[in-house]
Amino acid sequence: MAERVFKNKLLVRSLQIYPPIALAPMVGLSHSALRTLVQEEGGVGLLFTEMLAARRLPHDNQYCSPLLIRSADEYPLFYQLVTADTEAIGPATEKLHEFRAQGIDLNLGCPAPLQRKQGAGISLVENKGLMCKVLRRLRACTDLPVSVKIRLGDNLDTVKLRELCRLLENEGVDIITIHARLNGEKFCRKPRWAAIGKIREAVSVLIFVNGGIFSIDDARTSLEQSGADGIMIGRGAVEKPWLCADIARDIYGLSKSCQKKTDSEIYFKFVNLLEQRFTPERRLGRLKQFTTYFAAPFVFGHHFAASIQSSSTIDQAKQRAADFFARSV
Ligand SMILES: Cc1cc2nc3c(=O)[nH]c(=O)nc-3n(C[C@H](O)[C@H](O)[C@H](O)COP(=O)(O)O)c2cc1C
Repeated sequence: MAERVFKNKLLVRSLQIYPPIALAPMVGLSHSALRTLVQEEGGVGLLFTEMLAARRLPHDNQYCSPLLIRSADEYPLFYQLVTADTEAIGPATEKLHEFRAQGIDLNLGCPAPLQRKQGAGISLVENKGLMCKVLRRLRACTDLPVSVKIRLGDNLDTVKLRELCRLLENEGVDIITIHARLNGEKFCRKPRWAAIGKIREAVSVLIFVNGGIFSIDDARTSLEQSGADGIMIGRGAVEKPWLCADIARDIYGLSKSCQKKTDSEIYFKFVNLLEQRFTPERRLGRLKQFTTYFAAPFVFGHHFAASIQSSSTIDQAKQRAADFFARSV
């Protein structure tokens, strides 16, 4: 692995990832506006789309579909597929090549009933034969980096997890992101970063640790306990879009690229990005989802979130946000 990790720069095929900090795939959140917001704050070395149904991709338009809209600056971007259908892989990867993807991720961790019903997400891990077929097809269809995102399993079974990671490695996967929770565990449960540490030495594939990273200390501890090559941050980067930059500065010695903005400036920059990237009917829902997380750290943040949730237009939400920030200085 040494030749693929040099001074914390990760080399995946010909792609450099630096710093080794990724913004997680999150339905309704990891769209162009959030990716740009976090990227402009600095410190993020890898971006993901939310999960995309492979069968739908060939019919989607990258300039209209809110899941596919992307600015040229969002780089490197991995598109996450969710599928158990080997036939869908070819047309989907062709489309992702057209979109100039830097990598393709396969979702192996989503427990949602809709995905389970189709044998995708977490269910695909339960059907190893099919999982390998899907990955083999994906590997055959692209020279791009291929990554997967998994959970720890049904219970803490080091042997099983190690075997799964070896299997993924043998199928040509370049990066495994491990969400350090068991399959049934809710996001409020304490993450089990050390469980990744127990399997780290068994595989030479790059590993990203994910789950419950909300501060510089969390990032440091998760890396120490897991021995991972990089970290992936989800909700923490919505709560604090500057978190990746803070971690990159503290752990990887990156200089801060921009002046610290106020909370209000960050919030309204996000609103602006929503207005630039999405048609009017696509904005308010996304602002509400973002605010659920962004408001959490504030005193009276729940009032702020509730006031945005009950807004019926984006202008009303903007006025209520302006009032909240004016009151909280
Ligand atoms: C609203 C929401 C949507 C999510 N959507 C996806 C998804 O599309 N694909 C995926 O692999 N994980 C998805 N996840 C899981 C996250 O990628 C991540 O594994 C999880 O939030 C734990 O990381 P965190 O504690 O840093 O948030 C989602 C999580 C949330 C909160």
